[in-house]
Amino acid sequence: RFETVEQAPPDPILGVTQAFRADEDDRKLNLGVGAYRNDDLQPVVLDVVRKAELRVVEQKNNKEYLPIDGFAPFNKVSAELMFGADSELLASGKIVTLQSLSGTGSLRVGAAFVNRFFPGAKVYIPNPSWGNHKNIFADAGVDVAQYKYFDPETIGLDFSGMMADLESAPEGSVVILHACAHNPTGIDPTVEQWKEVLEICQRKGFLPFFDSAYQGFASGDLITDAFAVRMFADAGLEMLVSQSYAKNLGLYGERVGALHCVAKDEGNAKRALSQLKRLARALYSNPPTTGARIVAEVVGDPELFEEWKGEMMGMAGRIKEVRQQLVDCLKQKSPNRSWDFITDQIGMFSYTGMSNAQVENMTNKHHVYMTKDGRISLAGLSSGKVEYLANAIVDSFDN
Ligand code: LMR
Repeated sequence: RFETVEQAPPDPILGVTQAFRADEDDRKLNLGVGAYRNDDLQPVVLDVVRKAELRVVEQKNNKEYLPIDGFAPFNKVSAELMFGADSELLASGKIVTLQSLSGTGSLRVGAAFVNRFFPGAKVYIPNPSWGNHKNIFADAGVDVAQYKYFDPETIGLDFSGMMADLESAPEGSVVILHACAHNPTGIDPTVEQWKEVLEICQRKGFLPFFDSAYQGFASGDLITDAFAVRMFADAGLEMLVSQSYAKNLGLYGERVGALHCVAKDEGNAKRALSQLKRLARALYSNPPTTGARIVAEVVGDPELFEEWKGEMMGMAGRIKEVRQQLVDCLKQKSPNRSWDFITDQIGMFSYTGMSNAQVENMTNKHHVYMTKDGRISLAGLSSGKVEYLANAIVDSFDN
């Protein structure tokens, strides 16, 4: 029996938090998981979320099951947020939405859908990508391949490598695209490059599968960060979009998000939704209520929506500030190296290019916890810790 079960390794991202908690050194710093902290390094619940929670309590809702596809007002505002309230695709019923368990749960249902209806199709994920992408698709029985993304020489996007890999991918493949603020690199294609990616997806009959986990965090603007998704949808491609409210509304533990399916006509959309519901029913039955009600209150109420945008700007702005402070400090301490890549990257993370040994030095010697791929979450850095971090980085690069 269970003696044949091998010990699993710690999770590459969430396992870092466990290790951080076990460290008793006062100087310790958790830059592993992408979770926003204030400048005192405390978790943040947005004011709009507190207000929405109060409203939800006052509604005295029952605890009945939601429909398999979730809370209808949530699905409506989520689709409008992603595709635009005036989207012709929404008006004509070409987009269907399934409330799901944040980004991971939405991707997992989408992966099961791919496995069931496009058997043999491979999914292409960027190299590198968020550590969970591979697990999600592999566990759903979908073969995972990679396309080039990061160029260590320029610490930028390897766009020609990416296009060459997509060119040689079989027709009908599924292509994972980070909608904005690519995790872990913080490097996104330009508008012109997105157009070329769209063209190749159309020409090769790929199924684009967008992962949108940072809408509002990349540029500070919800519409700008939905640019790529909207451009692809408006071009008439059938595609999937996973949407998370973990970061932009700070609803990490509420596990609230959505899977959108954009179809070429209403019939395709309806049939796809019927099957997504069937898959979700077997995976977790129906989604939880509270997070969806909070989102529906915030995103669906013009006043709270405006307030939310202000709070999101505040979070994105704080991250930008510590990014800049870190670069300034690194330039002072180690002027012969180039550090501008840190401010060229956007979103929550910086991808430092550190080797495994350098990451180990950061953690074992300096108590700075980060993922092994060299990613640091700037959302977990305070201005008071910038100098400490800069010293640790310089020491690790020099060793
Ligand atoms: C991260 O990349 O740190 C976040 O998306 C959290 C997670 O679930 O891995």
